[in-house]
Amino acid sequence: MNYKRNLITCALPYANGPVHIGHLAGVYVPADIYVRYLRMRGRETLFVCGSDEHGVPVTMAARKEGCTPQDIVDKYHGIIKKAFADFGIDFDIYSRTSSDIHSKNASQFFRKLYDEGKFIEKESEQFYDPEAKIFLADRYIVGTCPKCGAEGAYGDQCEKCGSTLSPEELINPHSKVSGAEPVKRKTKHWYLPLEQYEGWLREWILDGHKEWKTNVYGQVKSWLDGGLQPRAVSRDLDWGVPVPVEGADGKVLYVWFDAPIGYISNTIELLPNDWEKWWKSPETRMIHFIGKDNIVFHCIVFPSMLKAYGDGFILPDNVPANEFLNLEGDKISTSRNWAVWLHEYLEDFPGKQDTLRYVLTANAPETKDNDFTWKDFQARNNSELVAVFGNFVNRAVVLTHKYFGGAVPADAKPEQIDADTLAQIPALKESIENNIESFKFREALKEAMNLARLGNKYLTDTEPWAVAKSDLDRTASILYTSLQICADLAVAFAPFLPFSVKKLNHILNIEPMAWDDLGKTGLLKEGHTLNAAELLFAKVEDAEIQKQMDRLEAIKQARLAAEAAAAPKVAPAREECSFDQFSQMDIRTATVLEAERVPKTDKLLKLTIDTGLDKRVIVSGIAEYYKPEEMVGKQICILANLQPRTIRGIESKGMILMAKQLDGKMRIVTPEERLENGSTIG
Ligand code: MF3
Ligand code: ZN
Repeated sequence: MNYKRNLITCALPYANGPVHIGHLAGVYVPADIYVRYLRMRGRETLFVCGSDEHGVPVTMAARKEGCTPQDIVDKYHGIIKKAFADFGIDFDIYSRTSSDIHSKNASQFFRKLYDEGKFIEKESEQFYDPEAKIFLADRYIVGTCPKCGAEGAYGDQCEKCGSTLSPEELINPHSKVSGAEPVKRKTKHWYLPLEQYEGWLREWILDGHKEWKTNVYGQVKSWLDGGLQPRAVSRDLDWGVPVPVEGADGKVLYVWFDAPIGYISNTIELLPNDWEKWWKSPETRMIHFIGKDNIVFHCIVFPSMLKAYGDGFILPDNVPANEFLNLEGDKISTSRNWAVWLHEYLEDFPGKQDTLRYVLTANAPETKDNDFTWKDFQARNNSELVAVFGNFVNRAVVLTHKYFGGAVPADAKPEQIDADTLAQIPALKESIENNIESFKFREALKEAMNLARLGNKYLTDTEPWAVAKSDLDRTASILYTSLQICADLAVAFAPFLPFSVKKLNHILNIEPMAWDDLGKTGLLKEGHTLNAAELLFAKVEDAEIQKQMDRLEAIKQARLAAEAAAAPKVAPAREECSFDQFSQMDIRTATVLEAERVPKTDKLLKLTIDTGLDKRVIVSGIAEYYKPEEMVGKQICILANLQPRTIRGIESKGMILMAKQLDGKMRIVTPEERLENGSTIG
C-alpha cells in the first residue's frame, strides 16, 4: 500500500486521576518515538490524543471528592496535559471529550447509525437505587465478598481476593450512593450487533493482518472464536453525551462508544476544514497505540462502528498494543496509590525526563508484562546514559576544546580503524529503522546505544589524550571521527531522548537533522566551532533511590495496615441448611471423666466422657487450648451421632463443640449451669 500520511493516535487516558509510568511506558513514549521518527523521515504525520472524560470512574471520583464530574475532569485534564508536555510527548492536539465539538460529533455519529437502523433496541433488568433514583453501574454496588468475606467488594470484583463477581453474588448488597438495597428495574438500551461484523472482522484482521503483534492478533482471534455478542452503546447515567433520541432522558452514550470517536473530534477541532483527509482517505495510514486492556475496543468495537458508519472512514493499519508495566513487583494501581506519578517524578528528578523515557523504553512491556524497579532505573542511568553515551560525547567535546580551541579539526591523518568504525554505522541505522518500523522500540534503543558504545570503544582504543603528546595530526583525525559519531548520536537518539538531543545539538552547535543524515560522511565540517561542553546526563545518587523506595515502602505498609483493619470480622456465612438437616444432628451435654494427651502429638487429647447414653471416648484437637487436668469434670456439648473415626489408632465417637474466635483460638461451649448429662440441644 502506498500511504501518503500517518495518523497516530494514543489511547485517551481517563481524566479521573493523574498519569503514571505505566501509561508512559505502554502507550505514550512508544507512540512519541514513532512519531518523532516519522517526522525525521519527512513523512506527513498527525499525532492525536486527549482526555477521556466520561464514564463511571469520573462520577465515582467526583462523589469521593465531593465535587462535580466536570470539576474532576478539569483538574485531571490539566495535570495530564501538562505531564505529557513536560515529558515531550509531542501531540499535535491534546483535547478532551467534554468539549462541545466532541459532544456534537459523537452525538451525530450515534444518530446516523440510529437512523440507518444499525442498532438494536433491547430492554433488560438493571440494578436501580430506589432512594437515589438512579441505575447503578456494577461498581456502584458494594457488599460482602461471597468468596473471601471481605467487606466493600464491588459488584464486578472483590479487590481483596481478586475474584470477578456479579452484583447478584454479593452478600448484603447496597448502593454506594445511598446505602439502599438495590432493586432490579427494566430499562431500554441500544446495542451494536457485533455478531453481524464477525465475518468481516475475521477477513480483515485474521486473514489480512497476520503481521500484527502476536499478543494483539491472539486476543482478537480468541474474541472472534468465542463468538461476538451485541454490545450496549448507551448507559443510564447523568454524565456523558446525551443519547440523541426522543424519550432517552437520563441516558448517555456509553463511554467506550464516545471515547474513540474522540480521536475524530479532536482532529476536527485541530483541522476543521482538513480533517477528512486524515480520516477518510485510503492514503492515510492509521495506527492506534494502546495498552492491552484496550485491544478489544480498538480492534473489534471501534472498527465495527467505523464500518457501520461507512462514508469512507479508514480502519487502523496496525494496533501495536503493549502489555503492562509493574512497579517493584506489584501491579500498578491508581486506587491503591501504587504508582510513580509523572508530575511527582518531575519534582524529585527535575530535568531527568529522558532518563525515565530511556528506562521505560529499555524495559518496555512489549511482549510480556515487565517490572520497573528503582535500582534498575539508577543502574541504567548511571552505567548506560552517563557512563557510555554522556561520557563519550563529553570526552570528544572536551578534548576538541583542549587541543583545537573548540573547532572541528581536520581529518589530517586517517587510519584504518577510523573507517572501520564509521563503516559500522549504516548497519546500526538500518537496524534501528527496521525495529522502529515494526514497533520494537526496546531493540531499536539498544541499537542506538550500541552506536554510543561504538564511539566509546573507539576513543578507548585510540586514546587521543595519549596520542596528543606526540602526534597532533593523528589526534585531529581521532577527534574528527569521534565528533562525526557524536553527530550521528544526535540523530539516532532524537526519537528517544528529545531533551538530551536538544542539548547535544546545542553543544555541537548544529540544527536538528533528518533521519537520513545518520551515517553520512562529514556531518560536522572542519573548522565548525562547538559550544562549551556540558554534561548530557547526571548521575542518580543512592540517596535519591532510597527516598523513592522508602516512599513505596510507606505506601505498602499503610495499605497492609488498612487491609488488616478492614479484614473480615467474622467467618463468612455458610450455605443454608434445611430444618431436617439440622434436626438430624444429635447434640447433647456430657461430662469429661478422664483426659490425657495422645502420645506423640501436640494437638490431641483423648477424653473419656459420660454422655448420659453411654461412656465413650472422643479424640479432640484441643491440646493447644486446654491441659488434660483442666478438662476433667467440665461439662461440654457434643455432636453425639457423628460417624466414628479412628484417630491415631483410637476410635473417636463424636465431636466436642468448640467456638473458634477471630484470632483462631478455640474455647469449649458449655451450658450456663450444670445440666443432666445427655440433655439434648436443638
Ligand atoms: N480511557 C481508556 C483507558 O484508559 C482508553 C480510551 S481509548 C479511546 O483505558 F479510544 F476510547 F479513546
Ligand atoms: Zn473476596
